[in-house]
Amino acid sequence: MGDASSRAGSGGKTAIAYVRSIADVRASIAVARRQPDAVVGLVPTMGAFHEGHLSLMRAARSRCSFVAVSVFVNPIQFGGTDDFNTYPRDLDRDLAMAAGAGADLLFAPPDGEMYPPGFETAVEPGSIATGLCGASRPGHFRGVATVVAKLLNIFAPDIAFFGQKDAQQAAVIRRMATDLNFDVEVSVEPIVREGDGLAMSSRNTYLEPDERTQAVALFEALSQARDAVAAGETSVARLRRQMKRKIAEHYLVDLEYVKVVDPATMEPVSAVEGPVLAAVAARVGRTRLIDNMLLLPAGGD
Ligand code: PAJ
Repeated sequence: MGDASSRAGSGGKTAIAYVRSIADVRASIAVARRQPDAVVGLVPTMGAFHEGHLSLMRAARSRCSFVAVSVFVNPIQFGGTDDFNTYPRDLDRDLAMAAGAGADLLFAPPDGEMYPPGFETAVEPGSIATGLCGASRPGHFRGVATVVAKLLNIFAPDIAFFGQKDAQQAAVIRRMATDLNFDVEVSVEPIVREGDGLAMSSRNTYLEPDERTQAVALFEALSQARDAVAAGETSVARLRRQMKRKIAEHYLVDLEYVKVVDPATMEPVSAVEGPVLAAVAARVGRTRLIDNMLLLPAGGD
């Protein structure tokens, strides 16, 4: 177990423990649990931190006595053509940022710690994982659910924090926690955006300057849909057409899907009769981006 406070440049106020083994995590959590009324929070991540990740750590800091962050680029949630090898990794920077956000512990295991030889068990989500991103990324949510189940067992947190940015992921994890009786509150935090509305993502660093400019199309299309629904639009067919048209105005943005779904089940809806979720995925150059927005009907709740 190491103390990375000096490495993290946190001015000596906050010390963040840096651990690479599951045994060290369990030892740290056991110490934290000795405090009366301890509340343990976990923020699972793949690193390459941005304000979205930090917002989860701050939310955890505000509700928990002990804040743990995991950084693990989980190989089993990447498909053959995905960006596992090129995914951005910068642990020193992540440690400094996590310390600055007030985290108490950062767990960055080597692959073999999470998947030792002989590993062969997985969590298989149901229909909630088949549409939207599940359709183009077979096995992705199985990999996510499996690693999150492992992390929940390793940390046994009271609260686990996730971002609404990955709405389907959050729904899959909520469903899993309920179905498999994990004794944890799943807290889903709002999407943090750049000044022009682009949802923050570790993958935004892949974007070329002209791609970065056009990437705002996803946010613009979703905002238009939100405004239309607030003004009384109830036809999902019309909303999807409008969103597709908006995205098509941006020639570098190659739409994968635009869907309007039930926010809890991720099942497509045909009319807006209550709060619904609009979700978009697109390729911008070699970068796959996703975004979503809750659409609230006029006068609805
Ligand atoms: P990662 O992409 O690193 O994201 C970690 C957490 O940060 C996720 O809960 C994600 O939804 C949240 N997040 C990302 N961008 C955000 C933004 N702009 N605003 C708010 N929250 C944001 O998601 C994963 O890692 C992995 O799949 C993981 C759950 C760790 C399992 O491997």
